[in-house]
Amino acid sequence: MGISRLGFVQVRVTDLEEAKRHYIAAVGLEKTEEKDGKVYLKGWDEWDHHSVVVEEGGAGLVKMAFKVDQAEDLAELERRIEAHGLKVERVHRHEDHAIGDGIKTTLPSGHVVQLYHEAEVVGTRTGQLNPDPWPDELRGMGAPRLDHLLVSAEDPHEFTRFFTDVLDFKISEKVVPEAGSDQILAAWLFRTNTPHDVAVIPGPNGKLHHFAFYLDNWNELLKAGDVMSKHRIPIDVGPTRHGITRGQTIYFFDPAGNRNEVFSGGYITYGDFPCITWTADQLGTGIFYHNRELNERFTSVLT
Ligand SMILES: [Fe+2]
Repeated sequence: MGISRLGFVQVRVTDLEEAKRHYIAAVGLEKTEEKDGKVYLKGWDEWDHHSVVVEEGGAGLVKMAFKVDQAEDLAELERRIEAHGLKVERVHRHEDHAIGDGIKTTLPSGHVVQLYHEAEVVGTRTGQLNPDPWPDELRGMGAPRLDHLLVSAEDPHEFTRFFTDVLDFKISEKVVPEAGSDQILAAWLFRTNTPHDVAVIPGPNGKLHHFAFYLDNWNELLKAGDVMSKHRIPIDVGPTRHGITRGQTIYFFDPAGNRNEVFSGGYITYGDFPCITWTADQLGTGIFYHNRELNERFTSVLT
């Protein structure tokens, strides 16, 4: 019952053609449709119509959308969101292309969260019967799927409370001012069995820090770095290791300045996974385990 997983992110870009070159030719996503000024994209191993939507209009996050297990979950989650003191809006079928009826709310942080149950299923090229491990003609980084997103909020504690108390997310890792403190400065939240589906760090409200695509392993990550150089994509940080999530990572930017990440590894989570705590003085080590410090861009460049 409840949230199943991160379904899609919708982001603004400055130029749709540049964005297509980036996300299709370099990241390797498949375009499933282009309609009414929006490009619908998915990784080769994703079954639903899209996991990323790009639209022209600057940079930043339009919304994050989570898929729920059962259609009936939407009514219960609507009740919970309202009980939490937030307004709920209905999203009608076809208001969002290829997505069924749903609900959305704007968090105090300004982020729009949409919940839905149905999506048009387009399937994968490898299929469900006796599949090959990957399809022919993968492009660029060949990203199989969207993994997570990270946003900034002035009050990460409040943002986290919405996800844990209302949507039943669990916290895999958190940053606190000092050992023993209950005050959450940053949190990594999951509903699936990965270290995070969504995460929050302190910063301006409504901003996107990055969204990430999963890659199978460190070799794929290194190859993704090669693709970035080949396509003259600005690399922010990496390849390196996160202390938090233990993932392997490269951060890079799309042509509009939105930060992307390719992410591999990381542990699995489960219902009784204990929350790991980092103290604020160790945040640099938590984010970049090798360098043990944050670079200026990491905290200041948001879209
Ligand atoms: Fe990430």
